[in-house]
Amino acid sequence: MAKAIILVGTQWGDEGKGKVVDYLSSAFDVTARFAGGNNAGHTVIIKDHRFILQLIPCGILRLEKHAVIGSGTVVDPAALMSEVETLTSAGIDVTGRLHVSNRAHVIFPFHRQIDKAAEAARGSDNLGTTKRGIGPAYEDKVARRGLRICDLMDAEVFRAKLARLLDEKAATFRKTYGVELEITGLVEESLVLAERLRPYVIDTAMYLNQALGKGRSVMFEGAQGTMLDIDHGTYPFVTSSSSTAGGASAGCGVPPIRITGVIGVTKAYTTRVGTGPFPTEMPDIEAEEVRSRGNEFGSVTGRPRRCGWLDLVMLRYAVMINGIGSMVVTKLDVFDAQKEIQVCVGYKYKGTPVKEMPAEVGKFAALVPEYKSVRGWQSPTFGLREESKLPQLARDYLKFISDEIGTEVGMVSTGPERDATMVRGGSQLEKWLRD
Ligand code: GDP
Ligand code: IMO
Ligand code: MG
Repeated sequence: MAKAIILVGTQWGDEGKGKVVDYLSSAFDVTARFAGGNNAGHTVIIKDHRFILQLIPCGILRLEKHAVIGSGTVVDPAALMSEVETLTSAGIDVTGRLHVSNRAHVIFPFHRQIDKAAEAARGSDNLGTTKRGIGPAYEDKVARRGLRICDLMDAEVFRAKLARLLDEKAATFRKTYGVELEITGLVEESLVLAERLRPYVIDTAMYLNQALGKGRSVMFEGAQGTMLDIDHGTYPFVTSSSSTAGGASAGCGVPPIRITGVIGVTKAYTTRVGTGPFPTEMPDIEAEEVRSRGNEFGSVTGRPRRCGWLDLVMLRYAVMINGIGSMVVTKLDVFDAQKEIQVCVGYKYKGTPVKEMPAEVGKFAALVPEYKSVRGWQSPTFGLREESKLPQLARDYLKFISDEIGTEVGMVSTGPERDATMVRGGSQLEKWLRD
């Protein structure tokens, strides 16, 4: 069976998925995004060039590979075309290799306006969204009034559907926020973008199923992370799509039975951008240290990321929800100078041990983590590629993680560069790459 592997974030996003997908994509014919939109920011560093991909799967950076933007995503045509331009000017021609679903929903500029207005109206209870219009676009999708890429491909259909949508939206927006929805020039601008988009638009579910049928391999590139998933994350402090492994099947139209494995990605610690509960968040001084060593600033918004210790309760949950068969640990090098590393092995709620992730956000916020202290290796791992050169205490840390989560650590990342990576000998992940 052709391999079809899903890769997901196991925390609140920014685990280093971009770097890992870029490395692994050499072993896959196609990389596909299944959820989210240009709220994602996936960083790939190849020699002196730093790429930040938002909607286009990172596999596109390998010139012989194909990339798919599936129907479960939301597409801002202007943002997508500017991403295409940036790639083209860096020598990455996407022609004939990038395929955009005709069923994906469209993000319009007014979705961004609504996102901003809704965040401002929430005041101190805001969600800290990326303000890219993601939530409002998914709202229209679920309310069954959204416009899809296929609508954009037919000017007459587009004008009629957009007019109907705007009638409703403009009135609601005026009533809710007391200002007008900005729609001047929208139809013409959208139709110009539609023509630029047209060469990429296909039925991507058909494309992916046919590719798999012919024995071509596919990697599904998760965006966001397990704890940002609309169903399984820290609701309402989540994104508006299914960022867990189940979302890959739904969002790409590839049957679950065709999926051959799931890879999870975690940092050696935890970060979060935006608001919401974060049980293992570090005090300011420690967080500052990790933030500066790990360069923890949002790749899309530039916001400083909140930093905390690794949370094994969360990772165990992510293993369960996603069916992770191999875990990748990134940013090990950030702890190179760390004397003692804290790892959360359990929680207490009002003095009672808690085994499961609570559903209620209030309860989640009141969890008290229980830590185990692990000795740091205090020697450089930055840029290491050979497993044999890992300091013993670093191996002990990785072994501790894999023992606690019941899943192998199949790959370790020791720097942002493509080559600062090791796939562990004898691991399931190594087998997946070879097969
Ligand atoms: P993503 O959204 O999961 O793709 O992650 P981001 O790209 O938003 O954030 C990860 C950041 O960590 C980026 O700046 C990467 O270049 C960087 N990074 C990835 N892996 C490593 C690593 O092993 N070590 C270090 N120091 N940086 C890394
Ligand atoms: P990648 O793929 C980190 C967060 C936002 C906010 C919440 C909702 O780079 O890991 P949204 O704009 O989606 O409505 O915001 O989700 N968020 C992310 N945080 N990494 C991401 O993507 C994120 N995408 C959304 O910060 O808290
Ligand atoms: Mg990111």
